[in-house]
Amino acid sequence: MQKVKHEQWASGFTFLLAAVGSAVGLGNIWRFPYVVAENGGGAFVLIYLAIVIVFGIPLLMSELMIGRGTQKPPVAAIQQMAHQSKASKLWNMLGWSYVIVPLGVLTFYSVVAGWTLDYAIAIGIGSLNNLQEGDSAKIFQELQDSPLKLIFWMTLSAVITIGIVARGLKSGLEKTVTILMPALFVILVLLMLYASITGEFIKSVAFMFDPDFSKITPELVLMAAGQAFFSLSLGAGSMMVYGSYLNRDISIPKMAVGVAFSDTLVALLSGFAIFPIVFAYGVEPTSGPGLVFVTLPIVFSDMGWIGQLFGFLFFLLLAFAAITSTISLLEPMVAQLSEGEKFSRARAAIYAGAAFWFVGIFVALSNNVLKDVHPLDFLPLFEGMNIEAVINFLAANVFMVLNGLLVSIFAGWAIKRSITLEELGMGDSMLFKIWFMLVRYVVPIGVAFIFYDVVL
Ligand code: TRP
Repeated sequence: MQKVKHEQWASGFTFLLAAVGSAVGLGNIWRFPYVVAENGGGAFVLIYLAIVIVFGIPLLMSELMIGRGTQKPPVAAIQQMAHQSKASKLWNMLGWSYVIVPLGVLTFYSVVAGWTLDYAIAIGIGSLNNLQEGDSAKIFQELQDSPLKLIFWMTLSAVITIGIVARGLKSGLEKTVTILMPALFVILVLLMLYASITGEFIKSVAFMFDPDFSKITPELVLMAAGQAFFSLSLGAGSMMVYGSYLNRDISIPKMAVGVAFSDTLVALLSGFAIFPIVFAYGVEPTSGPGLVFVTLPIVFSDMGWIGQLFGFLFFLLLAFAAITSTISLLEPMVAQLSEGEKFSRARAAIYAGAAFWFVGIFVALSNNVLKDVHPLDFLPLFEGMNIEAVINFLAANVFMVLNGLLVSIFAGWAIKRSITLEELGMGDSMLFKIWFMLVRYVVPIGVAFIFYDVVL
């Protein structure tokens, strides 16, 4: 058994707040609704739910188990697990991927987090009042065309993230999530109530829960899997590193189910906060990434001061949700760098933060000043992609999925069964056998198919 020498979460509940804080983010509130709308509503939601249960929960358990079992940051954790199980040293590379990929995700995540800050302020001070439909699209485009604004807001979100992570687990991460997560939940429920009373609630229920089975295609399954991975923070170190601060007497299966359940609940709730308004205003739900940023401000501006208040709350909520996710994306590298006490935590946070911030500048410039730069044009797969698209695709569609695939093989085949049996604490029960079968066969084969389809 590992001697505990680093900080730990105050309780299982605090861990749950932090892990749910990581999982719940732009992925749920900004991305989920537009991806649902683009993929035919109910059919997508159904497949999404199935993937969360069959792939998501077993992978969450695997990542949490590796972190908690070793009480170490990802590189050291995977190294130690491999060593104890006499597995190949090549697994060390997986550990490095687990701390580098989240920095890649951060480069574009922090840019979008910046948009939410810009919108919260703009609506809050009333500069998005009395909009006509064309105005809103123009305002969104104007933001995309303003390099300085984008860099400013991205930098602010980076500074907030670095500041919180530098303070450490107790006074940084833990304090932040215990304040922001309950606030987020309250705002979301208020918004949902408001939307369902004033908007088209019944129509939204039908849209999200009445599946048209003819819409289920391989592409839909693929989109659902990508969305589930991203939303559950899988394949990029967040869950593994949060697991390493978890006390040994807390049940991993229960925590994994709690995270998956809450994350899915918030995604559905945000659907119910957005679709009733979208339908009531006759907005086209399939308007893509702009759904939240282009359409909702129109609606808010039509509702007078109430709209101004709710609009401000909504984008503030998005910013909160983003920040409790960005800290979990910076933490893996910071934990890794400061673990051997070579660097202090603050220094590690500044170095790792500076690295993603610097690349983030190029991401912020990708749709304006550098929009004609296509760095990997010589590869057919990347043809026509700007810098942001390349980084986004590589991090979210290639390496995260690959990491998930490898970690399921690691947990199912490389780690000794006696270790997983002990860590998961379910005994040699039916549930353990189901988990074991899922990570050994179902997840690797399923994810390999998805990967094959996306990349090859
Ligand atoms: N899950 C978060 C969201 O939905 C984003 C996120 C945090 C993430 N940590 C991650 C995504 C690790 C992938 C991997 O917004």
